[in-house]
Amino acid sequence: MAKKNILLLAGDGIGPEIMEEAKKIISWFNKNKKLEIEISEELAGGISYDENGTPLTDQVLYKAMDSDAVLLGAVGGPKWDNLEFSKKPERALLRLRKEMRLFANLRPAICFSELVSASSLKAEIVSDLDILIVRELTGGIYFGEPRGIEPIENGERKGVNTHTYTTKEIKRVAKVAFDLALKRGKKVTSADKSNVMEAGQLWKEEVQALYDENKAYKEIELSHMLADNCAMQLVRNPKQFDVIVTDNLFGDMLSDEAAMLTGSLGMLPSASLSEKDKNGRIRSMYEPCHGSAPDIAGKGIANPIAMILSFAMALKYSLNFDKESELLESAIKLVLKDGLRTADIMEDGKKNVSTSDMGDAIVAKLELQK
Ligand code: IPM
Ligand code: MG
Repeated sequence: MAKKNILLLAGDGIGPEIMEEAKKIISWFNKNKKLEIEISEELAGGISYDENGTPLTDQVLYKAMDSDAVLLGAVGGPKWDNLEFSKKPERALLRLRKEMRLFANLRPAICFSELVSASSLKAEIVSDLDILIVRELTGGIYFGEPRGIEPIENGERKGVNTHTYTTKEIKRVAKVAFDLALKRGKKVTSADKSNVMEAGQLWKEEVQALYDENKAYKEIELSHMLADNCAMQLVRNPKQFDVIVTDNLFGDMLSDEAAMLTGSLGMLPSASLSEKDKNGRIRSMYEPCHGSAPDIAGKGIANPIAMILSFAMALKYSLNFDKESELLESAIKLVLKDGLRTADIMEDGKKNVSTSDMGDAIVAKLELQK
């Protein structure tokens, strides 16, 4: 079996704590399933700024490009809030996404039956929920030019960002959504603001065009929904959705909303994928959807499950270890079934555990299923 290289960028805040737990899982797989995953660790985010004066060095970027997958913890924190824009920790993340061309961001929101009552919504609304948000990740208002803050008359200033999408950018992410829907519930909802923005109108037309051009997609039910309505429908009746495809900004918001349906942002993993190159290789990065949570950093109470589920996604999408990925997911379910909970998903009658206890318990369940 060929060796695989994974680059770990633990980052800031709770990043290093949850990454420690992912490392336990990786070493378990290496030891017990002979996966030969080689890990290396580098700095990204605020910690890289402190050390190197930049949130991401070129050397780390090149290493990320060469690796079979990148696992990222979280970046950012109040310490770096007042830095100029180009030095902010978040730039590390945005630069990695852009330069690695990770245009497709998959954010599955699955409500584990054990956590139904941790959701702020009624149990019947969220039980067995399994939706996938496919967020466009390298375009739209996050990256559009012109951008900036400029002086105008009367000592006032003007902030500018530009929302643009091309046919190619829209169609390639819609293709990812359709192809995934074929393997799931065969339903795609495309969310846009075609009633207000030209770029939104183009989004709707190009998604529809791709659908019409491909016979293979005929078995999929495609619908278009205004993004604000989609936000509302997600809390009204989330189970009407299977795959939601949307742009960078709406995807950012809708995925946080979807995360809370599952009980906690601490449960939601993500995969960011590039197109295949001519050797059939993709670039990829896996990260929890939550942020660096500086308020709880260093306390050992963060939930490592989104990080560990992100590694499960890496096993599946980048390393072709589908069986191992399923094994890991079922170990997590078993731990939740036993009633172990980190603070964010704690309920009466359950056992409150630390970040590292949670990691150890997942390893113990892997051992049992060996
Ligand atoms: C996310 C985050 C990032 C984003 C931030 C940290 C730049 O919110 O991955 O959802 O806005 O994309
Ligand atoms: Mg976000």
